[in-house]
Amino acid sequence: MEKAKRINLALLYGGRSSERTVSIAGANEVERALDPKKYTLRRYDTATELKKLVQEADEIDCAFILLHGKYGEDGTLQGLLDLLGIPYQGSGVLGSALAMDKHMAKIIYRYASILTPKWVTISHRDRLDPEAIISSLGVPVMIKPRTQGSSVGMIRAHTPQEVERGVQNALKWDEHVLVEACVRGRELTVGVIGLDSLEPLPVVEIIPEKGHDFFDFEAKYRPGETVEVCPADIPTEIARKAQAIAVRAHEALQLKGYSRTDMILEDTGKIFTIETNTIPGMTPTSLFPQAAAEAGVSFGALLDRLIEMAMAEGHNQSRSQAA
Ligand SMILES: Nc1ncnc2c1ncn2[C@@H]1O[C@H](COP(=O)(O)OP(=O)(O)O)[C@@H](O)[C@H]1O
Ligand SMILES: [Mg+2]
Repeated sequence: MEKAKRINLALLYGGRSSERTVSIAGANEVERALDPKKYTLRRYDTATELKKLVQEADEIDCAFILLHGKYGEDGTLQGLLDLLGIPYQGSGVLGSALAMDKHMAKIIYRYASILTPKWVTISHRDRLDPEAIISSLGVPVMIKPRTQGSSVGMIRAHTPQEVERGVQNALKWDEHVLVEACVRGRELTVGVIGLDSLEPLPVVEIIPEKGHDFFDFEAKYRPGETVEVCPADIPTEIARKAQAIAVRAHEALQLKGYSRTDMILEDTGKIFTIETNTIPGMTPTSLFPQAAAEAGVSFGALLDRLIEMAMAEGHNQSRSQAA
């Protein structure tokens, strides 16, 4: 039998965003889990090695993007890879840009009849009126930079003074800031995988330990700060509803391959969608890989599937360009 050719895989990691350290940790785990019989791996830190990537583009069969946030998850790198003709896992330029932008993502959710908390978006040029914001959204509110991840620059505010301070702080991270009505309830996250037919993964419930107002940076990355229950201990019909929302959000945002949508389930049974991640965390214990494992897909098999989908998509794209 003919031996399958090894795939030259570029692992893109590091970068300049606030999630650089998260990316580096993820890249190390991905490297460890990839089968060396299937892949010849080259690592590129996109903070310093983009030029090298461009120069070596012809020798690369596929890229695996393990970057979160700006210049990695937001469509810019996806655009560069499109220009270079290198296939990559996950969403393209448009979907990545839409999902990274929390303001635009919420507009699309609304358009697709996906329930999302009420919000206002404030620019650094606007005059802030914390009382007016509170009277329209109630308290507490969540304040977040428009295009960050990992809860960076986020705060929960209860008073006009806290809103003022929270907005000024979030504006350090971004030119625009969202102030969002806070939803009280259980936090759920749902992964979706597939190209033509989308498969939702089992629902995960996220329970930060006491002392965390919400799923903040520490709760996300310090071991033992959060309990993650997969499959979530919720009624089947609620789980199905959450899975249907994740699929709808993925489609509405024009995403590809995989995504993970964060939601909050209110006591009333209403589910509010918070955001969709196009490059979810990728260590074996991250939320998406955990849910995949629950569905019977090991971490290594998950990476293989993402790369297979990337190469199948890349093949389709080059066909459509030739036509
Ligand atoms: N409107 C909200 N109501 C209640 N909690 C929220 C709300 N928005 C965000 N959170 C909390 O903050 C966390 C991070 O917010 P999210 O919008 O998902 O940003 P990030 O991109 O940083 O993950 C969520 O996982 C959730 O715990
Ligand atoms: Mg999130």
